[in-house]
Amino acid sequence: MNDYKFDDYKNLVEDYLLDFLPKVDHKSIVLYQSMKYSLTAGGKRIRPVLLLAACDFVGGDIKAALPYACAIEYIHTYSLIHDDLPAMDNDDLRRGIPTNHKVFGDAMAILAGDGLLSAAFDVINKDMMMYFDEPEMLIRRVKASYEIGKYSGCRGMVAGQVADIDSENKQCSKEMLEYIHLNKTAALITGSVRAGAQLGGASAEDLQNLTEYSENLGLAFQIADDILDIVGDEKEMGKKKGVDAEKHKSTYPALYGLEESKRRLAELTDNAIEILAPYYDNAEFFVNLARALAKRGK
Ligand code: IPE
Ligand code: IPE
Ligand code: MG
Ligand code: MG
Ligand code: MG
Repeated sequence: MNDYKFDDYKNLVEDYLLDFLPKVDHKSIVLYQSMKYSLTAGGKRIRPVLLLAACDFVGGDIKAALPYACAIEYIHTYSLIHDDLPAMDNDDLRRGIPTNHKVFGDAMAILAGDGLLSAAFDVINKDMMMYFDEPEMLIRRVKASYEIGKYSGCRGMVAGQVADIDSENKQCSKEMLEYIHLNKTAALITGSVRAGAQLGGASAEDLQNLTEYSENLGLAFQIADDILDIVGDEKEMGKKKGVDAEKHKSTYPALYGLEESKRRLAELTDNAIEILAPYYDNAEFFVNLARALAKRGK
């Protein structure tokens, strides 16, 4: 295991993010420009960092995991581009600059999202094809790809986005709110961690513990995002606040109030940390990350 900090993993991701992006014919070059615009606008890179950290944690080769880390960031970035569209959350600012559709138009923003989603599996499949003679390594990659497809799509993030949109202007149940947050946000975070763990050849026990950690972290992450939408600093967040109330979104503060949301955020963070307690200092990266993310919503 490397003794890497968040920024060490993040720098690795940033170094390769554009390199792995498939080349686009010059006749469709606006597709490349539009994908690059959102990819290089900044972003905390939490999901690809988690993928690399999980791979590292179980003793895997993080350099070999880079195509998968970049793939996760392509999928996350596509989800943000589509999330901001007028037909969805209708936001003008993302990662500190105008949203993709504000610059390239709705049609190109939709297509940039499509391009990024398919780029993710293009990069993954290209990597897999180099391992036909190494069955064990190939199996790990197939499993990682399965996690990414499962948690980002109809059994994860996309399903959560559907429930989020469907719950606008409604008083949704607590159960429904949990479903929305677990799917639209925690799922991609869990998929990232599981993919990294699979690439590193994790034991069933480590995979289970990392999964439970990510579910708690992911739910906490969206509650913090909901809290920040009310009390956050727009400059720091790179996006406008107050948009959830404006769109009558089903959020934690809307259903439980601000104080109870903060209590739940602290509780989920404690749960996440507790799950990794048996690993002592070896899990320091994950413990520090959970604490740092919780601080944002305090
Ligand atoms: C924003 O995710 C969408 C949510 C799930 C709340 P991030 O807060 O990770 O956004 P970036 O990648 O840093 O821009
Ligand atoms: C977004 O949730 C979750 C995604 C899958 C993109 P939000 O709609 O609350 O995210 P922000 O606040 O726009 O980043
Ligand atoms: Mg949304
Ligand atoms: Mg949004
Ligand atoms: Mg939000």
